[in-house]
Amino acid sequence: MSELIIREAAAADAEAMIEYLKAIGGESDNLTFGAEGLPITADSERDYLESVLADKRSTELVAVLGGEIIGDASLTALPRRMSHRAELGIAVRKAYWGRGVGSMLMEELIAFAEESGTEIIDLEVRSDNSAAIHLYEKYGFVRFGRSPAYFRIDGEYIDFDLMYLDLRKP
Ligand SMILES: CC(C)(COP(=O)(O)OP(=O)(O)OC[C@H]1O[C@@H](n2cnc3c(N)ncnc32)[C@H](O)[C@@H]1OP(=O)(O)O)[C@@H](O)C(=O)NCCC(=O)NCCS
Repeated sequence: MSELIIREAAAADAEAMIEYLKAIGGESDNLTFGAEGLPITADSERDYLESVLADKRSTELVAVLGGEIIGDASLTALPRRMSHRAELGIAVRKAYWGRGVGSMLMEELIAFAEESGTEIIDLEVRSDNSAAIHLYEKYGFVRFGRSPAYFRIDGEYIDFDLMYLDLRKP
């Protein structure tokens, strides 16, 4: 995958992002949405991507292969008394799982967090999502709790693990 590019998403990626979100939503039951994607328009996605670019502590990274978005990783900074923290999200198109794209995105995202002064990264992950949990533990994330019945999909309740990465220097 020598031609894989990881870069910040730009407003011009809005339409492609909407299609990408529908694709990843349909490829696992690990995300907050399914194949319908998110209820957003190209305009609102453009506004969102511009606002992320303007926020020095948040980012939306995309992994692009041959012009197609095949993965993304986001860091969303929290406000006020939580402004030392940010929340992480990540996904890769199923056809590319297990080929290191998630790891590359994680490395770029953690480097961005360190450079922009984030001290704690938080995330929530399905307790049975061993691929994602393995990825997070590989980069130092620690499980500290479980949120019961976090998702309900077709009447089935699914627990989530709560994880964090502490980037504070001792
Ligand atoms: C989680 C996800 C982003 C990982 O992306 P990826 O590109 O496959 O990740 P990588 O190829 O870098 O692999 C990461 C590690 O997970 C390991 N792994 C892959 N599948 C695994 C599994 N089923 N169980 C345990 N470990 C697994 C890989 O071996 C690799 O570990 P290593 O580097 O120590 O060998 C991807 O599976 C995905 O998009 N899943 C659907 C969406 C999702 O679950 N997002 C997270 C929501 S919290």
